[in-house]
Amino acid sequence: MRVGVCYYPEHWPESMWEDDARRMKALGIEQVRIAEFAWSRIEPTPGEYDWGWLDRAVDVLGAAGLQVVMCTPTATPPKWLIDRHPDILPVGADGRPRAFGSRRHYDFSSPAYFEASRRICTAVAERYGKHPAVAYWQTDNEFGCHHTVVSYSPAALTRFREWLKARYRTINALNDAWGTVFWSMEYRSFDEIDAPVATVTEAHPSHRLDYRRFASDEVARYNRMQVEIIRAHSPGRPVAHNFMQLFTEFDHYKVAADLDVATWDSYPLGALEEQWFAPDIKARWLRSGHPDFASFNHDVYRGMSKLPFWVMEQQPGPVNWAQWNPAPLPGMVRLWSWEAFAHGAGCVSYFRWRQAPFAQEQMHAGLNTPDNRLDVGGQEASQVVDEIRTVLAANADANATIRSKVALVYDYEAKWLFEIHPQGADFHYPRFTFEYYSALRALGLDVDVVPVDASFDGYSLIVVPPLPVAPDDFAARLARSGAQVVLGPRTGSKTRDLRIPANLPPGALSSVLPLRVWRVESMRPNVTEAVTLDDQSGAEGVARHWRDFIDSDAATALDVRARFADGHPAYVRSGAFHYLASLFDDALTVRLFARIAAEAGVTTEALGDSVRISRRGALTYVFNYGADPYTLDNVADNAFVVGSREVAPQGVSIYRS
Ligand code: GAL
Repeated sequence: MRVGVCYYPEHWPESMWEDDARRMKALGIEQVRIAEFAWSRIEPTPGEYDWGWLDRAVDVLGAAGLQVVMCTPTATPPKWLIDRHPDILPVGADGRPRAFGSRRHYDFSSPAYFEASRRICTAVAERYGKHPAVAYWQTDNEFGCHHTVVSYSPAALTRFREWLKARYRTINALNDAWGTVFWSMEYRSFDEIDAPVATVTEAHPSHRLDYRRFASDEVARYNRMQVEIIRAHSPGRPVAHNFMQLFTEFDHYKVAADLDVATWDSYPLGALEEQWFAPDIKARWLRSGHPDFASFNHDVYRGMSKLPFWVMEQQPGPVNWAQWNPAPLPGMVRLWSWEAFAHGAGCVSYFRWRQAPFAQEQMHAGLNTPDNRLDVGGQEASQVVDEIRTVLAANADANATIRSKVALVYDYEAKWLFEIHPQGADFHYPRFTFEYYSALRALGLDVDVVPVDASFDGYSLIVVPPLPVAPDDFAARLARSGAQVVLGPRTGSKTRDLRIPANLPPGALSSVLPLRVWRVESMRPNVTEAVTLDDQSGAEGVARHWRDFIDSDAATALDVRARFADGHPAYVRSGAFHYLASLFDDALTVRLFARIAAEAGVTTEALGDSVRISRRGALTYVFNYGADPYTLDNVADNAFVVGSREVAPQGVSIYRS
């Protein structure tokens, strides 16, 4: 557990650097990330490098006892490079190249950019690979930010055709897989295939899905190139990338497979404002963020990181980029930091050391104000440092690895598929996944977020949000785990080629769930269907967004546990497998998960919506996002390492379990 900061020496007079480094060290900062946007200063004119300033910056930080996270500067190719190779610019769905003048103005498929990136990465890695102050690396910055994963350039099309050839081998195999006989879309060769854009009405869904898969693979290929260069010149230094919150435009598991550390950039208030949450939810958590949002991302990135994950950028105060940008409540920067550690983080690194007085992000807070005084976020970071020392001193296993009894399956392709073929306009995979996660957290459960190809051994409860395409061995792996398994609606509803399975959904999963989804319907946002539980309680709730109509040839094998008002099954069970035929309201979801958790032998605790509990090693962490104090009734006073039995609003308590 340690803290870091993002620093831009090129934004400030060199006369300030030593004092900055000294104050960072005094505050307890251990690592400093630099240079991710510094290409125009590193190579001001083609082929002429100016290393002097960066050498001195690294030396100043190193001399102060700080570890440097060196970045490759490829998120911002300089003007001269774009002028030499305009085909580096990504092309939008409107067919127009994006312009120079902000950032991330490159196409992952551009051969010119691949070569230019190889060259600058090699230069930086050669220069600093063995520098004693450089302890870690970051590739690029936030792959895909500002909608830059998918490009419709000629270069992308060329590579897409190659990608298709490698996948299908013959054009007839592609025609068969996609079903291009529909609407006379048959192709005679791979060279006839264009990007699925600018068609009269919707382009072929299998074509679109493959384009998304291809674009995702391009990100992984580009990152791998950088990682290989860094490893060759800087052996032994872990390589990271900073992913984004709830970002789903490429398969993060594939990119993370090449990294040592998966990190993410946490801006809970900006995220709340920009995501799907209803206006009343946005108002309710305005200055704290949603209680499950940061932790969901922690658990996602923990699940793909070889070394403990990090928060590479932590929101320190108001951001600049959401529609509205509130200030965090006092205490929230501290709470967010502790929440990251509670979920397994190795480092929380604040963005940024000092607010910039110029350019796009001049309204974005830092740990220091532009006139160089410690801001509220800086004071709270300092408090976190003091508390880390207390926690580490009192607990040998504070940095323990987390392994939960509950797994939530997470899949990027599912997001693309439902986006391409939603069937109901609000069928938003990240939202439904988050709602399941939130229900589990409201029950006091620690959750591992895992990919579809994970080993499920050792879990007691596995929750699968709507998963249209399940791997062939999915049912077998789930069954072997011995866990209770909850499957959301639309699971198993498509094949890999985006067709309806021959035996109807849930396709191959019918081996464990002997049912057949013979009809589906989507529901308008203002429409719900009543649902009644078949248990003693007769409790009721509502179904939203979606309904699967289920029947079964093996009626006796299916236990119908809830029904819609018209009598159709809403929730059925077969052995350890539970199938939900709709998305239910939050309270009903919590209720169902509590019941199934009990059947799985997992203890739950009804926490409601504003207090959250996490366990790491022998420590239990309690976070209060709400407006009222929360009292821990059954914990001895002398068990507390930080805080006490009374957890104030925005408060954190940590106790030995
Ligand atoms: C991140 C990005 C940073 C900065 C920050 C502002 O998305 O990596 O460079 O722009 O947001 O909140």
